[in-house]
Amino acid sequence: MTSKELRQKYLDFFRSKNHTIISSASLIPENDPTVLFTTAGMHPLVPYLLGEKHPAGNRLTSCQKCIRTSDIDEVGDTTHHTFFEMLGNWSLGDYFKEKSIEMSWEFLTSPDWLNLDKNRIAVSVFAGDKDAVFDQESYDIWKNKIGISEIKIAKLPKKNNWWGPAGLTGPCGPDTEIFYWTGDVNKIPNSFNDDNSLWVEIWNNVFMQYNKTSENKFELLKQQNVDTGMGLERILAIVNGSADNYQTDLFKNIINKIEQLSDKKYGNNSEIDKAIRIIADHLKATVFIMSDEKNISPSNTDRGYIVRRLIRRAIRYGRQLGVVKKMWIKEIAKVVIDDYADVYFELQKNINFIITQLDKEEEKFSKTLELGLKQFENQKLKVKSISGQIAFDLYQTYGFPIEITKELAKESGLDVDEKGFLKYFKEHQDLSRTASAGMFKGGLADASEETIKYHTTAHLMLSALKKVLGNHVSQKGSNITAERLRFDFSHNEKMTVEQLQQVENLVNQAIKQDLIVSCEEMDLEQARSKGATGVFDLKYKEKVKVYTIGLGDNIFSKEICGGPHVNQTGILGKFKIKKEESSSAGVRRIKAILQ
Ligand code: ALA
Repeated sequence: MTSKELRQKYLDFFRSKNHTIISSASLIPENDPTVLFTTAGMHPLVPYLLGEKHPAGNRLTSCQKCIRTSDIDEVGDTTHHTFFEMLGNWSLGDYFKEKSIEMSWEFLTSPDWLNLDKNRIAVSVFAGDKDAVFDQESYDIWKNKIGISEIKIAKLPKKNNWWGPAGLTGPCGPDTEIFYWTGDVNKIPNSFNDDNSLWVEIWNNVFMQYNKTSENKFELLKQQNVDTGMGLERILAIVNGSADNYQTDLFKNIINKIEQLSDKKYGNNSEIDKAIRIIADHLKATVFIMSDEKNISPSNTDRGYIVRRLIRRAIRYGRQLGVVKKMWIKEIAKVVIDDYADVYFELQKNINFIITQLDKEEEKFSKTLELGLKQFENQKLKVKSISGQIAFDLYQTYGFPIEITKELAKESGLDVDEKGFLKYFKEHQDLSRTASAGMFKGGLADASEETIKYHTTAHLMLSALKKVLGNHVSQKGSNITAERLRFDFSHNEKMTVEQLQQVENLVNQAIKQDLIVSCEEMDLEQARSKGATGVFDLKYKEKVKVYTIGLGDNIFSKEICGGPHVNQTGILGKFKIKKEESSSAGVRRIKAILQ
């Protein structure tokens, strides 16, 4: 089965069960300042899991682009990825455990769908602890309704069978995980033990009925939700009888290209295979991140730093594989773009940006890579561990992300004084919010009143910016906390003092007028024809929410947005711009507060 067929099969199955297919959201979360990337299909759905009404209904399904950065350095085996696609289905207060488990079982084992061998399947359920009770219900459904024998149902603790929240707070709950035996069919064990790596987890059904609060309490949610996730790469490998995700069509052409460039073959040598997998994974992830409308390019902070790390690690492994061609990484990028072009239109749309950025980064790093490696080799002979100062020198002079230095050190059995490195790093004030600052750990589904006020203010500000600077202005990103608003938008010049003043005045007038904020649900086409703004490319024609600020002839703003928002602008207070600065080429950044 091809990836395209499988993606479609999954969505078709859930459509036949009355789910609405929704498009993949952007890889860059819209309203979550504490995570860099969308990490799961449920991530863009957090407000709806908490009780907001979704315009497409209460049964949804999607294939969501995801990036997980927590284990970039683990990538290299046959099952880990930085970029992956997650197939998922959701019940927003509709069906719960029984239906969810039954549907998963049907999709996996019915001859009409994936037709997997039932004997190879085992499951786990939540064992219970002080926060929540043993999931007897799921246990009974598996045993009595589905007919899985008791010995193949493991009861496991929170560490295994609890999912979420995506960030520090938010929706979460016990889950039941489905495993598939990838070993010899004649050696299927009688019991299930998730320590045996031949049992591979394929699907996770989460029963989101709790909300984790900032006081670490688990409160019952207004509604009982289902959130499931199945990695496309992994299930594709399984369906095709392989345990190596990299041998599926989602990697085949990419790996062929790497083989061609390096004159090495995949599948014969573990070191070579690892390098090939790293290059394939990292460059694919890079291409997807850079295809986002927000124009993320390699840098030393935030998402840009992740992109830099991925590209540089791929280049280092390319050198290890013996790739001699210069400016080679774009060759891989072109294959990724071709392979996924008809699923994710944004790739082709942003191809020029992607290729230019890759070329620039490769040129920059290639200049210092050899020298840096030499420097590392010299130091290695002299010392027992890599000092903070050496690591910082490798970073600053030779452009080695600290993670690459750590990896090189590990390969030589050396330690790195990371604390020392961070000390130098801080002294040079480059450590605003990079990986090392621990920024990527979690997201905060912050729906506090103050945060909601800033969301509405962002709409007012975008509209005011368009009025003052022109219609070329579009939103390039926002980062909202309960204390302030950070907003990136396309504009080529520094704003003048007068322009800033005008924007402030317009927003404050809109606040003074106490405009009504209303929400309507409609088709994307309809939203566009009504003049609603918003960077939206939807593959499936699901309904969207449009938030309008103002009424009748006095409409201040109309944007496609998931919400939530305040009901009237009067409660926003006084709007003040604190700073206007460059964010990246052609993109300006405003920091503003409400007083
Ligand atoms: N959100 C769940 C996961 O990512 C389904 O595993």
